[in-house]
Amino acid sequence: DVVISPTPVSAASQAGAKVAEAIANNPRLVLGVATGSSPLGIYEYVRREIEENGLDVSGITCFALDEYVGLPEDHPESYHRVVAATVTEPWGLKPEQVHVPAGNTGNPRQAALDYDQAIKDAGGVDLQIVGIGGNGHIGFNEPGSSLGSRTRVKTLHPRTREDNARFFDGDMNAVPIHCVTQGIGTILDAGSVVMIASGEAKADAIAKMVEGAVSSNCPASALQLHPHVFVYIDDAAAADLQ
Ligand code: F6R
Repeated sequence: DVVISPTPVSAASQAGAKVAEAIANNPRLVLGVATGSSPLGIYEYVRREIEENGLDVSGITCFALDEYVGLPEDHPESYHRVVAATVTEPWGLKPEQVHVPAGNTGNPRQAALDYDQAIKDAGGVDLQIVGIGGNGHIGFNEPGSSLGSRTRVKTLHPRTREDNARFFDGDMNAVPIHCVTQGIGTILDAGSVVMIASGEAKADAIAKMVEGAVSSNCPASALQLHPHVFVYIDDAAAADLQ
């Protein structure tokens, strides 16, 4: 399903309502969370549902998509910190309800294997929230990633490091070079996927994802193979759809 809304705020509300409904229907939901700017409106929507309508999140479990390699967990831009600040703390979750790949251990490759196993041990992700990179990446699965890939160490594309420099005082060189990311195959294992994107910088990637060939040139196009994907975008991100 592709749901096009006039503004980023309305796209986030629609996506937020979908996530809140999934939590209400399954108090033990395993929720996959993304970082970056795109899902923040979803997290705020759910926070309001918790505060104003008593949505119960005490039994859910969260798994983040990815983490930088070599950034201390208490660095303000580590995804450990970002997920804590945008999901764990505002939603009042206990830290043990929330999992993020361990990117700062001596052995990130093993951490990646352990993370894939931890998701399986939790029964798999029921609903995965994803954003999309301007180059079509999901998680940090850059163009060329295997569509069957599992959680592993990857090198970030220079465009992604440029895009994310805004979180590091504009300094691309401060953005780590490697990451641990759920694979495309790992993401496709989720019961359903909610994608959120807005702005013209995403329009080309959205068109390739929805209408292009399934190809590792646009990793998000692999979502065409999944039976339950809900794409929430604003008019600007929808601009290149036929
Ligand atoms: C984040 C992630 C990335 C982002 C994507 C879009 O955990 O895995 O794929 O979702 O880079 O980022 P924003 O939303 O900042 O444009």
